[in-house]
Amino acid sequence: DWTMGAYREEAIRLIREQVGDQKVICGLSGGVDSSVAAVLIHEAIGDQLTCVFVDHGLLREGEAEQVVTMFRDHYNMPLIHAQEEDLFLDALEGVSDPEVKRKTIGKLFIDVFQKHAAEVGGATFLAQGTLYPDVIESVSFSGGPSVTIKSHHNVGGLPEKMGLKLVEPLRELFKDEVRALGRELGLPDSFIGRHPFPGPGLAIRCPGEITREKLAILRRADAVYIDQIRKHGLYDEIWQAFVALLPVRTVGVMGDGRTYDYACAMRAVTSVDGMTADYYPFSHDFLGETATRIINEVRGINRVTYDVTSKPPGTIEWE
Ligand code: XMP
Repeated sequence: DWTMGAYREEAIRLIREQVGDQKVICGLSGGVDSSVAAVLIHEAIGDQLTCVFVDHGLLREGEAEQVVTMFRDHYNMPLIHAQEEDLFLDALEGVSDPEVKRKTIGKLFIDVFQKHAAEVGGATFLAQGTLYPDVIESVSFSGGPSVTIKSHHNVGGLPEKMGLKLVEPLRELFKDEVRALGRELGLPDSFIGRHPFPGPGLAIRCPGEITREKLAILRRADAVYIDQIRKHGLYDEIWQAFVALLPVRTVGVMGDGRTYDYACAMRAVTSVDGMTADYYPFSHDFLGETATRIINEVRGINRVTYDVTSKPPGTIEWE
């Protein structure tokens, strides 16, 4: 793509001009925006950039390995993999209120990021994958009643707190342009087309109190569900899909025995920007086959439901 090629060159020139010979740290979430920002900045200034990937123990199956493999091994970027699962999960013990969960995670995230960023030593800049819609939104929402959706993801206030200047090479781009730039930079399509994933991760897909056991069950169920969606060629038609593990056990039968295990809800929506969404009209064959697979393959689940709520009145996530 000629336009994106030109944009890439110009963006690289501007990053070099802004940063000079200083060091930059970048929070990598594994999402498209921070990934594209990191690869672009790395191309501009090489090892002056260090990425910090905060692993809060609330990621999906295989996700941390994928991020580390791609950035450290494939792109050869200096990457700090902050494995802080215990810190986060211990702090979340006994917490069941959704907003308290988010605030707990958001606060720890900032602490952990700061701690690991300090290991880099002498960084002057913080890189963020802020997009044009984020710029607009944060302006129009400022002082408004609720910025919950972005409170974790964009780690607001962090640069000031850390005394760092911002590098935001995607500030003028919309999401589809970021994807095009990612392709231009050689990020794999499987990565660029990934569904969005919330900053608080699986914590908000496990309504009520989180335990390590529940997270393990949820990870397996989600992996089977996404595998089904990919196998049926539906992944790209769907804006976001995931399993939520319900905080309820129900009775079932398996062989000659009675089971008493968790119920889960599959969720899939179409949307343009996440502000409104429609539930995805899967066929009954797909739903039945997927429910059977989850129950057969995931120990701990004996009942599967499909969430047919659109947004509004529902939200996409369960919390
Ligand atoms: P809701 O559930 O509000 O979600 O309909 C809309 C979109 O936002 C994502 N989401 C979050 N992203 N931190 C994030 O980074 C959050 O706390 C958060 N809550 C929701 C959600 O996954 C969906 O894409």
